[in-house]
Order: sequence, then C-alpha cells, then structure tokens
Amino acid sequence: MTEHAATSRDAMKRAAALAAVAEVEDDMVIGLGSGSTAELVLEALAARVAAGLRVAGLPTSERTAALSRRLGIPLTSFAEHRSLDLTIDGADAVEDVTLNLVKGLGGALLREKIVAAASRRMVVVVDETKLVPRLGATPVPVEIVAFGHEVTLAALAALDAAPTLRMAEGAPFRTDGGNYIADCAFGELSDPAAAERRLASLVGVVETGLFLGMASLVLVGTATGVRSLAP
Ligand code: A5P
Repeated sequence: MTEHAATSRDAMKRAAALAAVAEVEDDMVIGLGSGSTAELVLEALAARVAAGLRVAGLPTSERTAALSRRLGIPLTSFAEHRSLDLTIDGADAVEDVTLNLVKGLGGALLREKIVAAASRRMVVVVDETKLVPRLGATPVPVEIVAFGHEVTLAALAALDAAPTLRMAEGAPFRTDGGNYIADCAFGELSDPAAAERRLASLVGVVETGLFLGMASLVLVGTATGVRSLAP
C-alpha cells in the first residue's frame, strides 16, 4: 500500500468512527470494540467524555481497556451491567447485502461477540475496502482451546476449512482468554450460517469470527463521505 493510500484509508476509518460516536448519548453503556478503527472510536469518544458526555464503556479486549483508561473513558463490566445500549466495533469483512461480518483478525473475537450479543444495537465502523459481495475470501478466525488443538485443527481441516494455527513471535498466538486462533480459508461462503453451525458443533471450538445478523448499522468511510448501511 502506498503512503497516500494508507493515509486516505485512515481518513475513511476516522470519518466512520466520528459518525458512530455521534450515535452515543448521555448515560449509555457502550461496548468498546477492538482494532485500529475501534481505537479511532475511542479517541473520538474520549473527546466527547472530556467535553462532559456521561457514558460507561465495556471493553472487548485488554488492549482496548488499557487505551480507554489512558484516554479517560469510564469503564464498567458485566458484573454491573448485563445489557448494553450500543456496541461500536470494526470488522474485517462486511457482506454488502446481508451485513454479515467476519471479525477477529485482531484476535478479540470471543469478547467482541459476547459484548455485541449483549447489546441492543451493534454499529460497525469500516473503510470501504472491507465491503465484499461474499464472506470467506479473507480467512475466518476461529478461537479454539489450546488443549487438544491438534485434534481440533484436524477436525477443521476435515470440514474443508483449511485451518492455519495463528503464530506470534514463534509461538501460537494467545487470545485474552488464553486460547488459540485457527484462521480458516474457506473461500467464498455461499451459506455462512451452515458454516457457522458446522464450526460451532466441533468439540474444542470456542467461537467463530462469523457475526451473522448482528450488525444494526454499518458506517462505511469512503473517499466521498460516510455511507450508512442498515439491514
Ligand atoms: C479484532 O479482533 C477484530 O475483530 C477487529 O474488529 C477487526 O480486525 C477490524 O480491525 P481494524 O479496524 O484494525 O481493521
């Protein structure tokens, strides 16, 4: 990617992030997503908090929790709130017609899905490069238990998921929950719901990065402005 392309992509992400933060109202409990676009959301939210907005944020990763604390965003937990007003999070791919998502390239998919599922609305922030006609072209991250991962990887391979164990600095990547990630190269998924059911049925699979029917609104930063997509 050229420097110019990277800069304009950042501008598109930032525009989507600002549009999402405009949805936040006083006294909301907000799910705080993970990833580079979600971090732009945190910056914009922190600016509103500094200006007097009252919110409580429930972070989807340790990294997001640490950044939120640094930025002065008040945090909460499921011990205090079982239900959230709104989650704002990024995505790796958005199917343009269904608004089904692939998430988890940052490794936070399990907490992201728990938080999104507990939220009345999920607003997704992406730049236009994330919009796709069909999911599956980018790998689907699947969180698996470390114990017996060799067996789980073999079971994923038997589903034609072509799994690759994610590595980091020469060792398997560990999620915040201490699990591993198998990146599954399905190729185009004509029936993501069937794939989700098959994956979820495997012993050793904790959660998948397929977020189906969860997005209430997708804000897409484009070269000419922010597009709103609703299901
Ligand atoms: C984190 O686990 C992911 O689900 C992120 O939301 C996703 O990878 C998008 O990240 P970027 O905004 O950095 O592309």
